[in-house]
Amino acid sequence: MAQTFDVVVIGAGPGGYIAAIRAAQLGYKVACIDEWVGPAGGPAPGGTCTNVGCIPSKALLQSSEHFEHARLHFGEHGISTGSVKIDVEKMVARKDAVVKQNNDGILYLFKKNKVTFFHGRGSFVRAVEGGYEIAVSGAQADTLLGRHIVVATGSRARALPGVPFDEDKILSNVGALRLTSVPKKLAIIGAGVIGLEMGSVWRRLGADVTILEGLPTFLAAADEQIAKEAKKAFDKQGLKIELGVKVGEVTTTRKGVSIAYTTAKGESATLDADRLIVSIGRVPNTEGLGADKVGLQLDERGAIVVDELCRTNLPGVWAVGDVVRGPMLAHKAEEEGVAVAERIAGQHPHVDFNTIPWVIYTSPEVAWVGATEQQLKAAGRAYKAGTFPFLANGRARALGDTTGMVKILADAATDQILGVHMVGPMVSELIAEAVVAMEFKASAEDIARVCHAHPSLSEATKEAALAVDKRTLNF
Ligand code: FAD
Ligand code: NAI
Repeated sequence: MAQTFDVVVIGAGPGGYIAAIRAAQLGYKVACIDEWVGPAGGPAPGGTCTNVGCIPSKALLQSSEHFEHARLHFGEHGISTGSVKIDVEKMVARKDAVVKQNNDGILYLFKKNKVTFFHGRGSFVRAVEGGYEIAVSGAQADTLLGRHIVVATGSRARALPGVPFDEDKILSNVGALRLTSVPKKLAIIGAGVIGLEMGSVWRRLGADVTILEGLPTFLAAADEQIAKEAKKAFDKQGLKIELGVKVGEVTTTRKGVSIAYTTAKGESATLDADRLIVSIGRVPNTEGLGADKVGLQLDERGAIVVDELCRTNLPGVWAVGDVVRGPMLAHKAEEEGVAVAERIAGQHPHVDFNTIPWVIYTSPEVAWVGATEQQLKAAGRAYKAGTFPFLANGRARALGDTTGMVKILADAATDQILGVHMVGPMVSELIAEAVVAMEFKASAEDIARVCHAHPSLSEATKEAALAVDKRTLNF
């Protein structure tokens, strides 16, 4: 006999597990199915984000940043350490422990909220009266009946055509986060978010890192001025980034990988490396989901087609996160997961796609929300810009980290904030103020008139707001 649920969620990444918890909070009987297998063979809910994405990458970024600080910056503070060494295996073990804490935390939250967890693969079998039959295969084979189905199956790394990942020499994010020694020479294809974060980790630990990027513009999605400032900092650190290249044949050799490519000037070149990370975007996970069994509509990329409310073409079937349109970000997936659970309950939640923040956790960090200056220009929108450099911020000087700036773009007539762009220390945290301000339709003057603690990095945001009206106080 099939077990019956009000809501069956397929996938326990940030989109799925949050949808399941919120639906349970709203009083529904909820099941969540996830197939991820942890290192010990058991379930490891949390999806890409927890297992091979946000969390492990940030753990390695933290460890490698500590190492770099100890090696290069402790001296300025009068701290001597002798020669600084890194035990990469220990660093990786710590990362694994952080991941496990998160896996366990989600299992605990499922228990606390009475979400029934199934470890296995979920797929549509057929539509039935009042819902859908879902098969669970794998560790906990079962059949479930769900009145509502939320698909949150996420995404996986896109491979270069004809160059499959072997996770030994040619690595996706999975292999890149499992390296247990520092490669002498590391090649990366794609100078996007993963390329820059992973490149930073292994460069800090001593690898000679070269990133090959297809586009002629660095970080094309970011504000141009901010991207230029970030690029300057990465160049100074010795992270080699070649723009406008065309990648040709990739071959594995006994020693590593050889990448033939054409440079921006049209010259033929070869990059030999011990390992290659391919980070050229991600593809939605819809294979084996049984979409054809129920007529669930997919687009040409294999993503599930949804409207702005995350409704698919099938009544009672919803989809959220990386498996649908929009930015592939954990917080976007979570917002959609909450919204779907609340819509099932007849509520009217709203996900504002204009105020989803982007953060790149390099050093300096890069963060933004809203429109870039080039987007405003292209749209013919009249705007004012205000910038403030961290060089003139007391807290940044005390930290010894004065790279970068905060930039605010506001409507020329109404002063409403249209975009906020940051590069510098801890801007992953500073961006939250900008998101709140934009969500409340604040003007630059609103931020300029708010009392910010001194000395704090957030004063740079206040000063950038003052700069919109050409009245910075400290620059
Ligand atoms: P996922 O997290 O991919 O979860 C989907 C889950 O569904 C997986 O566990 C999968 O195994 C399971 N699944 C798939 N099909 C089935 C099936 N048929 N049956 C059962 N289970 C199934 N985003 C940020 O916002 N901040 C970051 O710092 C960040 N860092 C990242 C770093 C890296 C290296 C990578 C790769 C990604 C990063 N991301 C980051 C992106 C983030 O991980 C994704 O946007 C997020 O995980 C998407 O959540 P999701 O729930 O849609 O899917
Ligand atoms: P990405 O979309 O960020 O960057 C891919 C880069 O590869 C682009 O610059 C693109 O121009 C380039 N590229 C594509 N094809 C190429 C080719 N054939 N040759 C050379 N360059 C090529 O994708 P990435 O880095 O794989 O990350 C995937 C997604 O994961 C991100 O878009 C983001 O949504 C998410 N993510 C978020 C993080 C965060 O929020 N801090 C961290 C890591 C990933």
